[in-house]
Amino acid sequence: MKTVREFATARAAGRPISMVTCYDAWSARIIERSQVDCILVGDSAAMVMHGYDSTIPATPEMIATHVAAVRRGAPTKFVIGDFPFLAHRQGTAHAAVVADQLMKAGAQAIKIEGVRGHEEVVGGLVEAGVPVMGHLGLTPQSVHQLGGFRVQARDAAAARSLLEDARTLERLGCFSLVLEAVPSAVAEKVTATAGIPTIGIGAGPETSGQVLVLHDLLGIDDTFQPRFVRRYLEGHELIQRALNGFAEDVQGRRFPAEEETYHAARPNGRGVASAAR
Ligand code: KIV
Repeated sequence: MKTVREFATARAAGRPISMVTCYDAWSARIIERSQVDCILVGDSAAMVMHGYDSTIPATPEMIATHVAAVRRGAPTKFVIGDFPFLAHRQGTAHAAVVADQLMKAGAQAIKIEGVRGHEEVVGGLVEAGVPVMGHLGLTPQSVHQLGGFRVQARDAAAARSLLEDARTLERLGCFSLVLEAVPSAVAEKVTATAGIPTIGIGAGPETSGQVLVLHDLLGIDDTFQPRFVRRYLEGHELIQRALNGFAEDVQGRRFPAEEETYHAARPNGRGVASAAR
């Protein structure tokens, strides 16, 4: 996917959209060569890359640094940069500065959690030419207000209110909407009534697309296995095995071998290894 228009055409054609998070250049390079449609440089970077226990410590500078690295690794993928905690609650002018930072770093769109109380910011950014992806349901930046990372919109009133918020985001001009940790029936209803694609995470199969945190789908943390994650790799085990293989080879003096070793030039000038990798 290269432009926002392709989100609309995918939805119209009933073609599911795939999105993964990414925060660095080396994994972006792998995603660049994959069939995954687009990349979210989420504020989950604060947890996945920096080891915090919530996304609250993320800053515009942190996200912009990750966006720039991802853009260098994945020059042709559609990249969305996340607005961090409270970046959209300090007025339209401040939001414009943050959007400018993320887009100059290489994002083609930004994502903002919630909508109530910052409708003007979302509308103002759209009007200024910034493609905005909404995010409803479990909005992790509100973790302390929600009392934990919990499924949202489980009762009828909360589901109605989520539906209203989705309509507001659509009216404000958002090009798509992430639905996180909501009952499948609620996500299905939003998807059926919204005129924009929905991208679900823990929202069942009826959304216009799915997003997963890259490290979750690769099984990098073997202690994290929530219901909504499908692991496509036991990354933790594979990486652990590789590291132990290296350590054991070093300890057993099996690494480096002859073919991994440089030698001084022979007197006839031949045999100098180049510094090529
Ligand atoms: O920050 C993030 O990774 C996200 C996704 C979980 C949707 O917002």
